[in-house]
Amino acid sequence: MKKFFSVAALLMVTVLTLVGCGGTADNGGNNKVLKVGSTIDFAPFEFQDETNKEYQGFDMDLIRAVAKEMGMTAEVQNIGFDGLIPALQAKNIDIVISGMTITDERKENVLFSEPYYDSGLTIVVRDGEESIKTFNDLAGRKVAVQIGTTSGDEVHKIAGVEVKEFNTVADCFMELKAMGVDAVVNDRPVNDYYISKSGATGVKELSERLTSESYGMAMTKSNTELQTKVNDALQKLKDNGEYQKIYEKWFGGVEK
Ligand code: ARG
Repeated sequence: MKKFFSVAALLMVTVLTLVGCGGTADNGGNNKVLKVGSTIDFAPFEFQDETNKEYQGFDMDLIRAVAKEMGMTAEVQNIGFDGLIPALQAKNIDIVISGMTITDERKENVLFSEPYYDSGLTIVVRDGEESIKTFNDLAGRKVAVQIGTTSGDEVHKIAGVEVKEFNTVADCFMELKAMGVDAVVNDRPVNDYYISKSGATGVKELSERLTSESYGMAMTKSNTELQTKVNDALQKLKDNGEYQKIYEKWFGGVEK
């Protein structure tokens, strides 16, 4: 009997969930889905919670808040970084939020929101490394970068460098520890977090900042309507203090 009740309860929950997802008329259309693409390997911007398996981070909170502001629900798909813009163009997703830097090259293919975070690149080396102190010291060395990123663009400019490209940032750090490369070039806030928060050992981040970059959310070239809505939502979140709350949750203190 007990079993019957729990099965019945489960069915009930399932039915309610389905109704919750499918209904449009009775909640004012508040459940339109915003299809989001992100590469979930970039703490503290996007990463998977080990216990509940949820995608979390600054970008995840921000896109959920933006979607909510637009009367929508964000549904996030984990996509390889070099597959994000193709996924947009194939209309598999509506928007990318993935610590993606606004660049002129990308602007030829996508529309960006207003910048939402100021970033840049730094170098991570093994603890004992004394011969790499600045970007120029990477000449003739092996460097790991995530495929399709601004780190790759920068490192390729160095004469005689051997660039090894990996699908995820975690793979880059693994290669560094395994002595397969001499350095990793990657976004500063992610390196900061890796070193200070995730308890990484045997590696250090150099203080030199290689670039100054801004993150934006990317949409298809033709979707000016979504771009306007996203920018309006972002502005609202800045005005009402919500953006600042999310910022403090992930970075503490004031906006840098
Ligand atoms: N900011 C860099 C770029 O746009 C790297 C972003 C990588 N993002 C990620 N979620 N792995 O090229």
